[in-house]
Amino acid sequence: MLADEMKTEGPAPDDINIVAFCCHYCAYAAADMAGSLRFQYPDSVKVVKLPCTGKLDLQLILDAFEKGADGVMVAGCMEGDCHYQQGNLNAKRRVVHGQTLLASIGLEPERVRMFNMSSAMGNRWAEAVREMDATVRKLGPSPLRRPKANEGTP
Ligand code: FES
Repeated sequence: MLADEMKTEGPAPDDINIVAFCCHYCAYAAADMAGSLRFQYPDSVKVVKLPCTGKLDLQLILDAFEKGADGVMVAGCMEGDCHYQQGNLNAKRRVVHGQTLLASIGLEPERVRMFNMSSAMGNRWAEAVREMDATVRKLGPSPLRRPKANEGTP
């Protein structure tokens, strides 16, 4: 196969990358618990720990897509349980804004989603990852990762 042909093929349909922005107090601890209890979930997720999902801004979500993510999960404390009061509610608004923005540039809004869980919910973490993986796998790799048809030609 010629190198130029390989460049135009893009990522394989099952080559999925999901970035999970996780609150230190809840989702990160839940992910840790899921690992300790050996709950099974897809390995397509890469965790980024935040002190609180309130730290997340829209630029972080967009940067993740620009750097090759096919989906973004934001996982924070249960509503009403954020250690910084409104952090997870602010994150929820940013996720909704992000979904609107993705739709406006032709990406499926379901590629970004907010989840809430407590630190004791290792099973919920595994379930959330399975849900997100299934959604993104159904959509396929992000169009931002697919090379343009004329890429690589002089
Ligand atoms: Fe967990 Fe704010 S401290 S979402």
